[in-house]
Amino acid sequence: MNARTDRGVPIRVALIPGDGVGTEVVPPAGRLLKAVLGDRLELVELAAGYEHFQRTGESLPEATLDELGRCDGALFGASGSPPRRLVGYRSPILTMRRELGLFANIRPLRSSSGSASVADRDGVDMVIVRENTEGLYAGRERLEEDGETAIAERVITRRASARIAEKAFHLARERQHQGARSPRVTVVHKANVLRVSDGLFRETALDIASRFPDVEVEEQLVDSMVYRLILEPERYDVVLAPNLYGDILSDAGAALVGGLGLAASANVSESFCLAEPVHGSAPDIAGQGIANPVATFRAAALLLQHLGLGKEAEAVEAAVDRVLATGPRTPDLGGEATTVKVAEAVLETLG
Ligand code: NAI
Ligand code: MG
Repeated sequence: MNARTDRGVPIRVALIPGDGVGTEVVPPAGRLLKAVLGDRLELVELAAGYEHFQRTGESLPEATLDELGRCDGALFGASGSPPRRLVGYRSPILTMRRELGLFANIRPLRSSSGSASVADRDGVDMVIVRENTEGLYAGRERLEEDGETAIAERVITRRASARIAEKAFHLARERQHQGARSPRVTVVHKANVLRVSDGLFRETALDIASRFPDVEVEEQLVDSMVYRLILEPERYDVVLAPNLYGDILSDAGAALVGGLGLAASANVSESFCLAEPVHGSAPDIAGQGIANPVATFRAAALLLQHLGLGKEAEAVEAAVDRVLATGPRTPDLGGEATTVKVAEAVLETLG
């Protein structure tokens, strides 16, 4: 049980809908959390995103960051991006990850029965553990003076690599206790080309692996990893990757288990969790009321898990699985239902 609820102090969770479909899927997820936790939960809605930037000149107000510091966890929708580089604009999610020290991005991918996507695969049950603070997302980009050459610096540190590798190996152990098959971590890199940067990531991960003799470790170059992920996704358990590879692999993996409408992620530090769907603001379907809320519901379950509310997380997962099996379903899964309809069905099933 969560220490705060033990003391009778409500759990404070921030809802940050952001842009596009984020504004359609986060409010129902708030209602879902409320249904599960009742008076134990206090919800606070916070502003961030490109739309907020266009209105106020700020994409992530200081007030949002301050308030996050007073919360136990947060649920983020998605943010859109400006069409070109804009002075003063900063990506809300990248900034929150950095400011809150959310060094690990945990992205479970598993088969769920009944999601009618053509690419659906059985027996997939893996977690992508993505380094969340550096790599090509360090934001060190510049255009040379002649305007003809652009350079991005890719930052890999031993410290961040060790921290994320430890997370992956611990997670492999925990999953084994929950009954997954024998634990294995696949370290993804491209150290045959990026000998120095991915070389350091690889070397650090293998160092950490030596402290976990009970967990099998293997390596896979990122290009052949995509190939094998598509051919035999069932063989993977925990997949450890630097920032960009982890991002790309998780979208690819999502396509194998029902699509981006189902895939959730948790950005975590030792003390905080900001959960979010893997998908973005989906401008192609935003405003139509047909976004699948399941990815965000699963994100809410990840948040509950990180708050120490395992039973409540399982209840949400079970209700979601049930509705995926029986319908109603949104169009991405071959159905005709709206976001609201699916959300109502999940809430009723939880009932
Ligand atoms: P996207 O993830 O928004 O959409 C990719 C595809 O998945 C689209 O066809 C979309 O319709 C579908 N999709 C996404 N969410 C869905 C849902 N809940 N239900 C049903 N279908 C869904 O990726 P895209 O189009 O590349 O990016 C759109 C914007 O989102 C960009 O501005 C991008 O920068 C931003 N983005 C933001 C993220 C964040 O804030 N964490 C993450 C990824 C992208
Ligand atoms: Mg992504």
